[in-house]
Amino acid sequence: MEVKIFNNSTEIGNAAAEIIINKVNSKNDAILGLATGASPVPTYKKIIEEYNNGNVSFKDVKTFNLDEYCSIPASDRNSYYTFMHENLFNHIDIKEENVHVPNGNPENAEEYCAAYDESIVAAGGIDIQVLGIGRNGHIGFNEPADEFTAGTYKVKLTDSTIEANKIYFDHEEDVPRYAITMGVQSIINAKEIILIAEGKAKAQAIHDMIKGEISPACPASILQKHNNVHIFIDKDAASLL
Ligand code: GLP
Repeated sequence: MEVKIFNNSTEIGNAAAEIIINKVNSKNDAILGLATGASPVPTYKKIIEEYNNGNVSFKDVKTFNLDEYCSIPASDRNSYYTFMHENLFNHIDIKEENVHVPNGNPENAEEYCAAYDESIVAAGGIDIQVLGIGRNGHIGFNEPADEFTAGTYKVKLTDSTIEANKIYFDHEEDVPRYAITMGVQSIINAKEIILIAEGKAKAQAIHDMIKGEISPACPASILQKHNNVHIFIDKDAASLL
């Protein structure tokens, strides 16, 4: 693991965007795994800026998002589909048919999730996966559990995650209780991973991910086994290291 500590979120975003842009410029049809949440927003901002400056094009790039809420439609203002379009896709030259955000309301979740994993494999696998981390060490929506998860699946969210997501919804009862998420195995199949975290609320999870034992009690700890991971964090998130 390469652990880099930055002064602020802009520096983190610039460093993460540089890796992604260099990849796309050396491989025009790169496959990107993308994440939602506040953490990657400065990265997406920098990517948009570099796109506007003519320094990168996404016209042959394909993207696969990590996760999506169940029980709200893709058109909902809180869906990850909406988030990704507002924060990135609407501002670059990526083709809509090359964008994949999981369907949060598939008729047959098991079949749909298997097909999602197959489409990643068929595309050639993810070159760079962007990740955030939950306060409880989750990646995607892989919550602490007894076993590491495998492929994409439908997950029941924990109280801690529902609590963290509350700020985005008007009423507590509107916060989705389930999500479709890539599994831990689908995530670590990526050739390169950039995990971004900021703030004191993430410090324990960052500590456990880097210094703790590799255990499904902290799903992000699996990244210790991957040979090409960048951990980009600020001083607050690094405060327990
Ligand atoms: C949600 C998402 C994760 C994300 C996490 C952290 O749970 N499913 O993919 O990493 O939030 O979000 P934030 O970056 O806003 O702290």
